[in-house]
Amino acid sequence: MKKTKSSNNNQSLANKTILLIISGGVSAYKALELIRLIRKAGGRVRCILSKGGEQFVTPLSVSSLSGEQVYTDLWSLKDETEIGHIRLSREADLIVITPASANLIAKMAHGLADDLASTTLLAADKPIIIAPAMNHMMWGNPATQENVQKLQSRGIIQIGPAMGEMACNESGIGRMAEPEDIFDNILAFFREEKPLSGYKALVTSGPTYEPLDPVRFIGNRSSGKQGHAIAAALAEQGATVTLVTGPVALPDPAGVHTIHVETAAEMLEAAQNTLPVEIAICAAAVSDWTAKTISAHKIKKQEDNTPPALNLKENPDILATLSRPSAQRPPLVIGFAAETEDLLDNAKNKLTTKGCDWIIANDVGGNEKVFGSDKNHVYLVTKSGHEDWQPASKNDIARKLALHIAGHFEERHYKTTQKNIAAE
Ligand code: CTP
Repeated sequence: MKKTKSSNNNQSLANKTILLIISGGVSAYKALELIRLIRKAGGRVRCILSKGGEQFVTPLSVSSLSGEQVYTDLWSLKDETEIGHIRLSREADLIVITPASANLIAKMAHGLADDLASTTLLAADKPIIIAPAMNHMMWGNPATQENVQKLQSRGIIQIGPAMGEMACNESGIGRMAEPEDIFDNILAFFREEKPLSGYKALVTSGPTYEPLDPVRFIGNRSSGKQGHAIAAALAEQGATVTLVTGPVALPDPAGVHTIHVETAAEMLEAAQNTLPVEIAICAAAVSDWTAKTISAHKIKKQEDNTPPALNLKENPDILATLSRPSAQRPPLVIGFAAETEDLLDNAKNKLTTKGCDWIIANDVGGNEKVFGSDKNHVYLVTKSGHEDWQPASKNDIARKLALHIAGHFEERHYKTTQKNIAAE
């Protein structure tokens, strides 16, 4: 998605120094536009161009646009004497890697330092933003996914990658985010007052496990990726976030208070203990049923091979409970609707039956895998209609939701202020 103009183009980057690392990838040319945007906003950009990056953009074009010397070689006696790779990061306020190749991401995840970019990053003490770009199969590879998750859990801010056509004529997730989007995120990083500063948020995520006996449980396939990404995105926008999660194979998101639970009853209790909050988002795939009684011993096979009857009772509905009118009802409660048919109708019904304010509806019945995948296609359903948010990565959907929530509270604040002015 190419934006025509940055939404924050009045904000200045005066007195800010950004260390821009350009690694190998066709989208390296987009880094040139980012340099231009940063300098136009008054920022200083120092660039490291990796050997791979040099295959796509020349040191001369980077240096002409940045107005600075370009650093390419760890073993350059001249560069090391004049500034040195340690000072390159020490003298920056923020490090931005665009494009971040699969190789550089892997080196960062494993702490390798075999060239100027990776050595500088290992010695860095500054916040880092990465804009990954690679072929969609490389992005989807479990090795890359594990590496990216490691970086996220260390608090590295990730922008994109986006869906779309790639230089290799294939399409999928892997396109680098547009320079304008990366620039907006740089501005948001330096904005002292983040849009959700002072707001408290609760997010539920992952599946619940309902025990039948000491070894068996009823569970589901939820990976928790969407809920965890939402918790991280809200924190990135300044909210104080509590994440209540069922069993997942994901690291706790950086900067988020995470509570681990197993059952729906535990999830409800933990969620209620976080109140009051301004924002509650129920992204967990809560098991609808739980065992009436949990067998103290492993249920054994019957002699006549009759399977045991599962005696179930309904679980509490966390979303409906949080949405119920009460003194502690959060001003904004958001649920999810995972549907296999009649997506929008079912989502609208859920909005009414659960009593929440917004529903994020996603189709889990199509050909595209949603559970465990990094991609999602969702609709935002509110009382006044719906918006198609188009297929995107779960991280991008999370970021979009966080910004949408920030916009919602900004508008509410504006309306309340106008009302108060009119009443005076
Ligand atoms: N939810 C919840 N507690 C439950 C069941 C669901 O908080 N016991 C929340 C989910 O986190 C989600 C929303 O309700 O935000 C809808 O969940 P979904 O599984 O789509 O719907 P159900 O209520 O389970 O209804 P059905 O399975 O009949 O579609």
